[in-house]
Amino acid sequence: MHCVMRNMIFPTLCIQENIQGTNMEEQVALADKQNSHQKKLKLVIFGATGRTGKEVVKQALERGHHVTAVVRTPEKLTIKHENLELVQGDACDLESFAPALEGKDAVLSSLGSFGSIFNPTTFYSESIHAIMEGMKRHKITRLVTVTSWCTQPGPNNNWFVEWILKPLFLNGVLKNMAVMEKMLEESCPEEMNYTIVRPCQLLEGMLS
Ligand SMILES: NC(=O)c1ccc[n+]([C@@H]2O[C@H](COP(=O)([O-])OP(=O)(O)OC[C@H]3O[C@@H](n4cnc5c(N)ncnc54)[C@H](OP(=O)(O)O)[C@@H]3O)[C@@H](O)[C@H]2O)c1
Repeated sequence: MHCVMRNMIFPTLCIQENIQGTNMEEQVALADKQNSHQKKLKLVIFGATGRTGKEVVKQALERGHHVTAVVRTPEKLTIKHENLELVQGDACDLESFAPALEGKDAVLSSLGSFGSIFNPTTFYSESIHAIMEGMKRHKITRLVTVTSWCTQPGPNNNWFVEWILKPLFLNGVLKNMAVMEKMLEESCPEEMNYTIVRPCQLLEGMLS
């Protein structure tokens, strides 16, 4: 898993990278122990009805955080919890979710959309623009978000991905994810303390 970040000082909802342990279970236990001493946060989560988002909501609630989930279809989120608030909104429509950001500590997003090379998506740049504007408005500076592996060319990228998969299939999404990453990289460091997680595959297995 590849992360791009300005600052990692944050009570993460996933396993912290610097935790030492002999195996994954020990590392998860240590991360949980550390998290239990951490401040309980007021989080806004986008993409909460998706495969990743549901897990993020679940883990945030398990750690005692208060979660506001911004979703298009509230009925799709089946998790019930006293610390979970649902807000109906569209991630590309700032005014539909802006009030939900008031007084919150951080925003987590695992939003996703499809696009083909014939019909490329602009969802990632549009939604991050609205989210960044909302965060600025409410003086929230911490953002954790997801894009994907291979959004940027790199020496470790497999030739098959660079020359076949991306041009023929993936660029309808990856190009716009790269635009979103650039928008975050060019944002003002005092206003936006971000982490971008770039997974190659998200699995519904053990925590890792
Ligand atoms: N799954 C993987 O293996 C994998 C690998 C690499 C990268 N990624 C990236 O990781 C991210 C999360 O993946 P995933 O598999 O969890 O995605 P997912 O299951 O498709 O979930 C996407 C989420 O985004 C929400 N969404 C889409 N448009 C929205 C809008 N306009 N307003 C509000 N919410 C909206 C969806 O809501 P609805 O329920 O209303 O549709 C859903 O909750 C994606 O960006 C994906 O490209 C995933």
